[in-house]
Amino acid sequence: MIEIKHLTKDFGSLRAVDDVTFNVRRGEVLGFLGPNGAGKSTTMKMLTGFLAPTSGTASIAGHDIENDGMAAKKKLGYLPEGAPAYSDMTPAAFLEFIADIRGLTGDKKKARIAEVVRLVHLEAVLHQSIDTLSKGFKRRVGLAQAILHDPEVLVLDEPTDGLDPNQKHEVRALIRSMAPNKAIVLSTHILEEVEAVCTRAIIIARGKLLFDGTPQELLSRGPLDEVFRNITSTPSRAAVS
Ligand SMILES: Nc1ncnc2c1ncn2[C@@H]1O[C@H](COP(=O)(O)OP(=O)(O)O)[C@@H](O)[C@H]1O
Ligand SMILES: [Mg+2]
Repeated sequence: MIEIKHLTKDFGSLRAVDDVTFNVRRGEVLGFLGPNGAGKSTTMKMLTGFLAPTSGTASIAGHDIENDGMAAKKKLGYLPEGAPAYSDMTPAAFLEFIADIRGLTGDKKKARIAEVVRLVHLEAVLHQSIDTLSKGFKRRVGLAQAILHDPEVLVLDEPTDGLDPNQKHEVRALIRSMAPNKAIVLSTHILEEVEAVCTRAIIIARGKLLFDGTPQELLSRGPLDEVFRNITSTPSRAAVS
């Protein structure tokens, strides 16, 4: 469902993403793990067509994100980093707007909005402007827009960032419940999150892919934080040649 081949991104002299290749199948939840600045968000932005790669390709359900972007994006839900919503809108108005963009109409539109509001628990804040919401609610509005059209591929950039422990638990349960019918990539710098929700883990640091395997393989090497430190403490980032 997701194919990334030799993806590379340079920002001036900084190689933010360095020749990253991986695939994700339906039913997989891939945890994209790495320290801050590793290149996780940049990889996701290229995968979702928000940033053009310096080189390499990405495709969603067989559609190249650059050459066949419209078809790719129809299959895709994306939660960007930060609080990706119009702050002067209410969650209700924002979800209506996204539903219209996604081509949902009539009863189907109403039903999907009601469903995502229920799934991410937005009932209490539906008619309050987004800029007055807590960080946790803003993230959940972002998550609601990402899953609104029930996409086959979900790309979630730190979906539990800013949530309290209960909310983290709920979002992880939601991701697990959606997993069987979708291909999901989520980024995190929380090691336990990988264990809790992912069927597979990729570790990147300084733009390079350093590990691709199951959370069990990672855990079998020792305490997770130690393993992570060992894997990510290789020599410095490549300079742009
Ligand atoms: N638009 C940009 N211009 C210049 N440098 C950038 C830009 N976006 C990201 N970077 C740099 O690229 C590297 C990877 O960033 P990012 O992908 O956001 O990492 P992560 O999401 O893993 O924390 C960092 O060193 C960051 O400062
Ligand atoms: Mg990031």
